[in-house]
Order: sequence, then structure tokens, then C-alpha cells
Amino acid sequence: MIVETISWLGSAPSGRVKLIDQTLLPVEEVYLERDDYRDIAGDIRRLAVRGAPAIGVAGALGVVLAMQEHAAARPNVFRARLAEVCGELAGTRPTAVNLCWAIDRVKRVVDSLPEETSAQRMLLSLESEAVAIMEQDRRLCRSIGEHGASLLPVGGRVLTHCNAGALATAGIGTALAVIYTAHEQGRKPSVWVDETRPLLQGARLTTWELMRAGIPATLICDNMAASIMAAGKVDIVVTGADRIAANGDTANKIGTYGVACLAARHGVPFYVAAPFSTFDLELSDGSRIPIEQRDSAEITAPLGVRFAPEGVDVFNPAFDVTPAELIAGIITDKGVLKPPLADSIRTHLAD
Ligand code: MRU
Repeated sequence: MIVETISWLGSAPSGRVKLIDQTLLPVEEVYLERDDYRDIAGDIRRLAVRGAPAIGVAGALGVVLAMQEHAAARPNVFRARLAEVCGELAGTRPTAVNLCWAIDRVKRVVDSLPEETSAQRMLLSLESEAVAIMEQDRRLCRSIGEHGASLLPVGGRVLTHCNAGALATAGIGTALAVIYTAHEQGRKPSVWVDETRPLLQGARLTTWELMRAGIPATLICDNMAASIMAAGKVDIVVTGADRIAANGDTANKIGTYGVACLAARHGVPFYVAAPFSTFDLELSDGSRIPIEQRDSAEITAPLGVRFAPEGVDVFNPAFDVTPAELIAGIITDKGVLKPPLADSIRTHLAD
């Protein structure tokens, strides 16, 4: 394992969440142990835990932490508090659908239990579902890697944006799972890593992971991708996703859409890698995906160092949407979905 991004220690009613604080990487490798769901909510907001599948797991485990405080409550009090806490945790970040998906999934387990079920029994059900989500995510990452690895030519030069690796999941990642698996298979991939302004997930996290795994990685500023593609030095682009609409439009880290446009201009195939939990079939297209707006200080004073004048107007969307027509395929846990994406998504998710 490259890194254990998130795990569950002990068991309910005194379990704890352990997570690596990603705000400190790559300078310090610090693991936090949380027994209060409010801390988990804060960790999700400040990106100490981040990446769509990882925040899903953190949200589900956060629900368990919250409900441990009510293990001796009357059943109706427990259920009322559960609904509040789920709403609170689901509201921490709006774009990645995995967060709501995982929280809904643990809540539904309790909703399906008889009304008179004790709080203690409900808590154990929440715990086993949250742990199941975490373990399933590990398997989904592996499957994504296995389905996607052969898309990389031997010696292939991959460009990726943001971090869709082990740090973004409970397993080996999504986009990076494809690269890790190709590496294990001896396909000798190398990676161009976009630094990913403003929060530098590429520079801080993706390079850290790839170097740990012994995979050749070259860090570039986001504005260098065009000339590197023009020079014929990129064979394939693979990124992760935060939410995929029914027609294949895909929200991912801000800048992904630009990379997809560049790939189209230079004839480089642009792939997205994501598990089934990242699809949102309730949205017909990407125009309705909620885009998180973040604090202006992330741009004016990144990592605490001021670059722009105090008081300047700032626009800081954390994600953008890549239209389906720019996507060569979506690498999922069940296989590679090819265009027309609306049809292949419908068929894929119906199974
Ligand atoms: O703001 P972040 O760091 O949570 O954004 C993460 C991304 O955009 C990832 O590419 C996405 O969540 C996929 S992670 C497998």
C-alpha cells in the first residue's frame, strides 16, 4: 500500500478515524486520530482529507463517530440526531457526489431497520456499512486499475491533473490506479504532473505518491501542458472525477476542462477514471453540477504567502466541467465506457 489515507480504529461505541493530514504533505507526514465528527467535518472542509472517494469514506465514518455520542439514546432521539448529522456532514463540500452517496448509504441502513431497534443496534449497523464502504472503495480502485492499465502504451507518457491517487481514496486511487497497475505490469509508464493551482494537489500530493511508488514523474506548471502536448510528449491524459452526469459531462478539479481542450487540439486521448459512486444519474448534464467556491485567500496568499494585493476581487471555483464530447472514455470498476457516453453510462449503471 502506498499510504493508508483513511482507516477505522477500534470499534463502536469507541471507534476512531485515522487520517493523514494532506494539508501538511509533502513536508510532514502527520496522522490525525479523530473521535469527534466535528473534527472530521472540519478536516473535509479544509482538505486535510480530500478527493471524491476519500471524502465519501470520511463522511460515512464521521456519521458513525457522531452517533457514538448517542449510543444510549432512545431510538427516536437517535434517528432524529442521525438525520441532522447526515445533513451537516453532507454539507461540508458540494461537488463530489461520493460524499452524499456514502452518507445516504449509511443512513438508509438505519432507515430500513424496524422502528423499535435500539440505538446500540443502529450504531453497529452504521459502523458495519461505513466500514463496508471503505473496503469496497479499496476493491473498486483495484478494478479501475486493472481495466485501465492496457490503455497505456508500453513506455506511455501520461499527463494527469490534481490528485486522483491513493490520497484521494481508501485504496490505490482512480487515475493513478491505472498508472500503478500499468507499472506493476511492467508497462513502464511515466507521468507529467500538473501542479494544479491554486492548492497544488499535483505538486504536493501526486508527485509524493508517484515518487514513493518509484514511478518516473515530472512536475510541470499548469500552463506548460500545451507546449508539452504540442511537442508530442504526451500519449494519454487520465484524470479523476468528482461527479459525472448522466450524459458523461464530468466535474473535476479546476483546470481539467482546459487540459481536455488541449488534448483534443493535439489529438491526445483524454480519459476519466472513476468508480460507480461518482456517477449522478439524477443530473442529465453537467450544467447542474454544483461547483464549490472557495476562499479567495487560496489564490491571493497560497499556503500563507501573499502574492496579490489585499482586497483584490477573486474568483475561485474549485472545479470545472469537461463536456462528454471531449472524453475518449471513462475507466470504471466494471470496464471502460466508450462514447456515446450517455448510452454506455445507462447500460453500465443498470447492471
Ligand atoms: O479539491 P479536491 O482536492 O478534493 O479535488 C480532488 C479532485 O478533483 C480529484 O481529481 C477527484 O476528487 C477525483 S479523486 C479520485
